[in-house]
Amino acid sequence: MQKTILERVEHVADDVVSLLLRGDEGPLAPWEPGAHIDLALPNWLTRQYSLCGDPGDRSAYRIAVRHDPLSRGGSEYVHLFLREGRTLAVSEPRNHFPLRPAAEYLFLAGGIGITPIVPMLRAAVESGAEATLVYAGRSRATMPFAAELVAAYGDRVRLFPTAETGRPDLAALPRNAEVYCCGPASMVDAAEALFPRVHTERFQPTRRVFAPDTPFEVVCARSGETLQVPVDESLLDVLNHRGRPVPSACREGVCGSCEIGVLDGEPEHRDDIGAPAGRMYPCVSRACSPRLVLDV
Ligand code: FES
Repeated sequence: MQKTILERVEHVADDVVSLLLRGDEGPLAPWEPGAHIDLALPNWLTRQYSLCGDPGDRSAYRIAVRHDPLSRGGSEYVHLFLREGRTLAVSEPRNHFPLRPAAEYLFLAGGIGITPIVPMLRAAVESGAEATLVYAGRSRATMPFAAELVAAYGDRVRLFPTAETGRPDLAALPRNAEVYCCGPASMVDAAEALFPRVHTERFQPTRRVFAPDTPFEVVCARSGETLQVPVDESLLDVLNHRGRPVPSACREGVCGSCEIGVLDGEPEHRDDIGAPAGRMYPCVSRACSPRLVLDV
């Protein structure tokens, strides 16, 4: 973890504040557009937020947090109790939503989903590529960074405050660009159905039905110990309860903080990240084979 000081809390839209987290021990770890950090809150909760500042500035990270009325304690704590000057620990950035080189980009953002898109749009424009942002929200007042994006990028930015304009017609947009989409599930689902080259990031896990859980065995390769994973326990809990601590944050397969290596056996991936070969997310994923050998 890295130590930061909360230097500034700024209202950037209705129910949205931006936090500027200044590194307290020299330069912060580098990051690229699309990356997020885990923020360890003083109420013992850890939450993930996309970085929306300037990757060239290693002195501070900027994130934005919407006050979610259904908050499980993260955004509520940020909005009601967090004050400037507080020391906060943050993880090194992780990136499951990296921007690939392309000649033409289409960015689709809904509400707070604009956060990873802000540095992506900047990088795309700086690379000389064609770039268009379609940004939807309930009203202008609820859309963080809308005014500054229009000021910086002019007619590359198309705003859809849906109470005035209705939702953007994604089906009418050109299909030849590399598409990056972050927003509510309805927008991400539509983008995945419409565009051939689409990269998405979800804040919530997709609702899917899996085969009933079955027990399996894991071998912890570093110690040689064998553990049993019963039907009513996650692999993550089994590892943590048996002295193989694995960090975790979302426990829903969307943040990537619990990633571990798989040396043998076939995992049943249930995450929304897309585990790289030889890796898995044990908070949600289980096993197709009766036995996994893990690099723990
Ligand atoms: S804890 Fe977030 S993916 Fe496992």
